[in-house]
Amino acid sequence: MGTETGNRAVQFEVLTLFPSMISSVIQESILKRAQDKGLVSIRVHSLREYSGRKHRVIDDSPYGGGTGMVLRPEPIFAAVEAIQAGGDPLRTLLPSPRGRVFDQKWAEELSRERRTIVLVCGHYEGVDERVRIGLSAEEVSLGDFVLTGGELAALTVLDATIRLIPGVLGQPGSLLEESFVHSLLEYPHYTRPDTFRGMQVPEILRSGHHEKISRWRRQQALITTLNNRPDLFEKAVQSRQVTREDQALLDEVMDS
Ligand code: ADE
Repeated sequence: MGTETGNRAVQFEVLTLFPSMISSVIQESILKRAQDKGLVSIRVHSLREYSGRKHRVIDDSPYGGGTGMVLRPEPIFAAVEAIQAGGDPLRTLLPSPRGRVFDQKWAEELSRERRTIVLVCGHYEGVDERVRIGLSAEEVSLGDFVLTGGELAALTVLDATIRLIPGVLGQPGSLLEESFVHSLLEYPHYTRPDTFRGMQVPEILRSGHHEKISRWRRQQALITTLNNRPDLFEKAVQSRQVTREDQALLDEVMDS
């Protein structure tokens, strides 16, 4: 597939019981444009098509008892093997609250992935463990909460990854400024009007004084990170991303 940069498009294959959950999201906005530009290819597969059983049944009761149903391994293996028949090497991800927590670094790594990325969306109580073992699937979690299924997690992985593919966003410069890239959260943004319902845009931002603006933004990023994500702030301190100058900027707001 041709692309703007001449690189091969990043390829995704999504296996799901609810194809329209995925299709509806990827047919909008930046994800749609990225596909139209040939920078990414996303195919959605209905697991029911691979059921191999009467009435397209894809789940069964858990061995050992317990509530809920478990996704059978056969439909998932059959779908992955159909994709594998295309000959491309695969990297398989399995959204699950048991997984390693997804982050910006992982998204960056995936945006450079040359293998086809397969996202296996589970539902019900879980997915037969032999899917993880037999397909060497990496479990990926969005965090410490439980979703009804893997689709929203798969969409999150798609979205966070695709926007990092060169050529997808209009202004690559904006990627350098944003949260997590420099271990701090982003500073706040303002646009017109300068007074809205009694709330004013900070004077410094309207001053046109670039150095002062940069300083104010850094100060805001520091204070927001310290207040909202002390864990991230501590990491930034440990990795020396927070300097003595930053400490002085912080002291300034603390004292005021
Ligand atoms: N499926 C259910 N809960 C999940 C979570 N927290 N992250 C990823 N996939 C999930």
